[in-house]
Amino acid sequence: MRTTIRDIREMKKRGEKIPMITAYDYTTARLVDEAGFPIILVGDSLGQVVLGYESTIPVTMEEMLHHVKAVVRGAKRALIVGDMPFMTYHTSVDEALRNAARFIQEGGSGAVKLEGGVTVAEKVRRLVECGIPVMGHIGLTPQSIHQLGGYRVQGKTAKAAQRLIDDAVALEEAGAFSIVLELMPTPLARLITERLSIPTIGIGAGPDCDGQVQVFHDMMGLFTDFVPRHAKQYAQLAQVIREALSLYLKEVKERQFPTEKQSYPLDEGVLSDLMAGVYGGR
Ligand code: KIV
Repeated sequence: MRTTIRDIREMKKRGEKIPMITAYDYTTARLVDEAGFPIILVGDSLGQVVLGYESTIPVTMEEMLHHVKAVVRGAKRALIVGDMPFMTYHTSVDEALRNAARFIQEGGSGAVKLEGGVTVAEKVRRLVECGIPVMGHIGLTPQSIHQLGGYRVQGKTAKAAQRLIDDAVALEEAGAFSIVLELMPTPLARLITERLSIPTIGIGAGPDCDGQVQVFHDMMGLFTDFVPRHAKQYAQLAQVIREALSLYLKEVKERQFPTEKQSYPLDEGVLSDLMAGVYGGR
């Protein structure tokens, strides 16, 4: 049985922490699913870590759907959340609904995520009314990076912190089933988490959120262009891959690969017949 948004809400009620991680492809999704993560986020962070864009802003619906489908094929148990790209839910409620529906209908995800609080609450309400579970995302919202002036901790003044509390409450009232809190002071994330009955999932928001999310490539040490302070590297896979690649390169050049073990034999009789020209041809 696949994890549902009801299961996620129950985890908060039981005081059980909610681990979430991103995945963008079939193989990774299988590994993450087998490890037992209840939620997989197909984040638009794929713009940077998979597609090589400078930010999440250029990511398109078609790119997201392509990766959501791969993750859905790979993960059989986790709830899959598809991240709605920049400008696919901004211009109208109808457009937000049409694009969110594509994630569920074409992509096969069980929920969508979108960035913003009070300003997107009306859209969240409509999506939920139409049966589309929505995860909110407040604090540092990477799609607004130009407006925010960089990847900075949000909610540091009383006014800014109050705005984030209002955003969280508006999302809960609109029917969101959980909210990502990105890059905000620990006490503010704690306050929001205590205020809401739906789960908060933190990234750079301290240990008191109901759950935590990390970008797969950051935590595996795969994406080394920039390592954010809130990312803990549980492995250094870039180094492991570099070493394996160098060894393969060297073995091919030095004729040590492939050996008999990686090669396929041909019956001796067939070979001598071929060499003697028994079958004609050249
Ligand atoms: O796109 C993403 O990976 C995200 C997480 C950082 C929450 O939005």
